[in-house]
Amino acid sequence: MKKKIIAYNRVEKPVLESLQKKYDVDFFKDVNTKSDPEFLKCLEEAEGIIGLELNVDQDLLERAPNLQIISNVSVGYNNLDLEQLEKKGVMATNTPEVLTDTVADTIFGLLIATARRIPELDQLVKAGNWKEEAVGSEHFGTDVHHKTLGIIGMGRIGKALAQRAHFGFDMDILYHSRRQKPDAEKNYAADYRDLDTLLQESDYVCLITPLTPETEALMGEREFRLMKTSAIFINGSRGKTVDEPALIQALQNREIAAAGLDVFATEPVEADNPLLTMKNVITTPHIGSSTRETELKMSELAAYNLEKGLLGETPPNLINQ
Ligand code: GLV
Repeated sequence: MKKKIIAYNRVEKPVLESLQKKYDVDFFKDVNTKSDPEFLKCLEEAEGIIGLELNVDQDLLERAPNLQIISNVSVGYNNLDLEQLEKKGVMATNTPEVLTDTVADTIFGLLIATARRIPELDQLVKAGNWKEEAVGSEHFGTDVHHKTLGIIGMGRIGKALAQRAHFGFDMDILYHSRRQKPDAEKNYAADYRDLDTLLQESDYVCLITPLTPETEALMGEREFRLMKTSAIFINGSRGKTVDEPALIQALQNREIAAAGLDVFATEPVEADNPLLTMKNVITTPHIGSSTRETELKMSELAAYNLEKGLLGETPPNLINQ
């Protein structure tokens, strides 16, 4: 008899089809994990779950007595209660590395788009408002090259960002991380700073740290005040690493110049979120890793992790040892 697994939300089609050949797969696009009767029924028998950011808590684990592995199709795993997974002896895996360069490209793209006001000026052209040959100073952007980039979170993605900034744009790199990273210092001339100093000295502040109890609301009123009024803030981590009302206030009061945001406190972002009406805010819908190539690689890696776990072997990307 085939093992029962749940596939949730984002598993690329060829990978889903290949899983369907080996397992009895129940696929859910969007689900209320507390009340959807069909989902709760499937949980009773599921030995594996694969998908994007399914909220896995004590309640869900208690309803899934046969679960052996939860395989995240993401590098972030703030959706998982690791303590409860440990207690129940359920493995958890993620998809690091395959998305590093793609996410760094997205964040750097967001940084340039925000600095040079590309979406705003695209709208101006398309609306037929490009009237004079040369645009006026009210539409000028700000330079990226040779400026100072402050990276908060010098993990794999932070280093890929530093690489782009150092070699491509001659930027000075500052970073703040739980630990100092000698390889980033050597390879990209990155200088370690405490958080406050990094905020004070950077022209661009990129937040790319995982969401943990320590990083929740890491950027608040005080932190935005420390930034230069000309500085641009980029968030490529998770919405909840930022105190969003404080960010809104900092932008409204011109304590910082602009923001490029791929992530929000609530996703999808609410239509009445004030950030959406600000010209100096560039938004994308949490697309850090969303290219055709990388989404497929992530699904493949997640499926591999799942299969290893279901065979009783150690998956390559086990989070909880
Ligand atoms: C995306 O945000 C991820 O964690 O992979």
